[in-house]
Amino acid sequence: MTIEELRTAYIKFFVSKNHRQINGKSLIPENDPTVLFTTAGMHPLVPYLLGEEHPSGTRLVDFQKCIRTGDIDEVGDASHLTFFEMLGNWSLGDYFKKEAITMSYEFLTSFEWLGFSPESLSVTVFKGDGEVAADTESADVWRSLGIPDERIYFLPRKDNWWGPAGATGPCGPDTEMFIDTGKEPCGDTCRPGCSCGKYFEIWNDVFMEYEKKEDGTYVPLERKCVDTGMGIERTAAMLQGKDSVYETEYFTELISEIETISGKSYSSSGNRTSIRIITDHIRTAVFILGDERGVLPSNLGQGYILRRLIRRAIRHGRKLDIEGSFLPVLAGVVIEQYKNVYPELEDNRAFILKELAAEEERFSLTLKKGEKEFEKMLPNLLKSKNPVIPGRTAFKLYDTYGFPVELTEELARENGLGIDREGFEKAFAKHQELSKKGADKLFKGGLADHSEMTTALHTATHLLHKALRTVLGDHVQQKGSNITVERLRFDFTHPEKMTPEQIQEVEDIVNAQIEADLPVTMEVMSLDEAKARGALAFFGDKYGEQVKVYSIGDFSKEVCGGPHVERTGKMGHFRIKKEQSSSAGVRRIRAVLENS
Ligand code: ALA
Repeated sequence: MTIEELRTAYIKFFVSKNHRQINGKSLIPENDPTVLFTTAGMHPLVPYLLGEEHPSGTRLVDFQKCIRTGDIDEVGDASHLTFFEMLGNWSLGDYFKKEAITMSYEFLTSFEWLGFSPESLSVTVFKGDGEVAADTESADVWRSLGIPDERIYFLPRKDNWWGPAGATGPCGPDTEMFIDTGKEPCGDTCRPGCSCGKYFEIWNDVFMEYEKKEDGTYVPLERKCVDTGMGIERTAAMLQGKDSVYETEYFTELISEIETISGKSYSSSGNRTSIRIITDHIRTAVFILGDERGVLPSNLGQGYILRRLIRRAIRHGRKLDIEGSFLPVLAGVVIEQYKNVYPELEDNRAFILKELAAEEERFSLTLKKGEKEFEKMLPNLLKSKNPVIPGRTAFKLYDTYGFPVELTEELARENGLGIDREGFEKAFAKHQELSKKGADKLFKGGLADHSEMTTALHTATHLLHKALRTVLGDHVQQKGSNITVERLRFDFTHPEKMTPEQIQEVEDIVNAQIEADLPVTMEVMSLDEAKARGALAFFGDKYGEQVKVYSIGDFSKEVCGGPHVERTGKMGHFRIKKEQSSSAGVRRIRAVLENS
């Protein structure tokens, strides 16, 4: 079964069990500053798991693009990826353990569906501890379906509990499903969850049955929910009888492309890890750049993760002796593979290729120099008693040569060195302190705080967006935005260079709104209602969930996560510093707020 067939079969199976298919969401979570990316199918559904009514009912199914950067160091083994697709089905106060597990079992083992042999299946359930009792109910269901006790493992909280992201909230035990690859156990303690590769985890049914209270107690929830997640690449690998996710079709295609470009063979173990890292990272980079809320490489937040992935892929390309540009070619392969399911990749093709090429160009210039610098100091470092890269050196590699600190760490590891991460953070903080001081000068007293500045720039972005639409026309759409403590950057669709008169007019409009000291207000409503009220919303949200709408007087209304200033009056004087091309049909503006 191919990945595509698996995706279709999953949806079809759960639709046949009265689930409604919903659309997956953007990789960049909205209104959730606690995580940078969508990490699981349940993530966009949290409000509904917490009790909100979902417009599509109480039984839902979807596939969701996910990114887990916590697994980045595992990438290259048989099963870990930074980007993957998760298939999921949900019960929002509808069915619970018995039905969920029974459906999982049917989908996995029925010949009409995946047809795994029941003997290849092992499961884990929560063992219980001082706070919550063992999940014997799930174990009983598995037993009733014919899974013998030897293949039902009771494991502790760290393996079989899905907790709330914060300290309180809905949580509960889960039951995980593993396929036994038939390999010899690595020892007496080998069991599902062991990292030797004998057991491949493919699916997780989470039973949200408790609410963790502030006093630390677990109170049974009245409305119990089920949240499940099946890893599509892992399951496909098992269905195809492969040892690793890298041997499934989307990866093999990328691997042979890399072999062609580099002339290096994947079958040689010396090349394998680099090739696997490149395939993983290019997929993730393409999905981040191509997302409905596309992000550009930068030194902050999601942009920094993107930069890290791209630069690490480039370095591993150089390890394979690839000298020139290669990421755009690989990106083209990924776009072809996924464009029917994720049309945003095709829509953003030009942008993805352009940004990858630009980042490649930027980093190629400094990578070699940085590596030379590193090699120069290596002999001395290796001779020293404490072979650790000093923090200020790691910072120099970062600041001067654009080495993400994690890349320097990897380089250090490969040479048997450590790195003084704390020293790096200190040098970094000192640098930030200096640039913050520089920026402070731009503002009158009171507004000097970092977050207030970025907040003001964020509000300025909304004013700019509306002013551009007023001056240039309604074809103007935001393509991306990035705010640092010093300036805002705004990418938008427009076919040609703006004239100096147009730039002046936009500045004047924005400054007039600032001078009018307009109030900024926020309301929560459904996306449909927001659109009906004329709010700008361009990020491809597809169905009626609740969104925040920020209004700046009567001038601008936009769907956005915030935060914003309360009134526009004290933002300073808005000035456009640069207007240039960003990619085909996309212009980029850099602007600042100056002391007025
Ligand atoms: N939310 C659960 C997971 O990601 C299903 O494993």
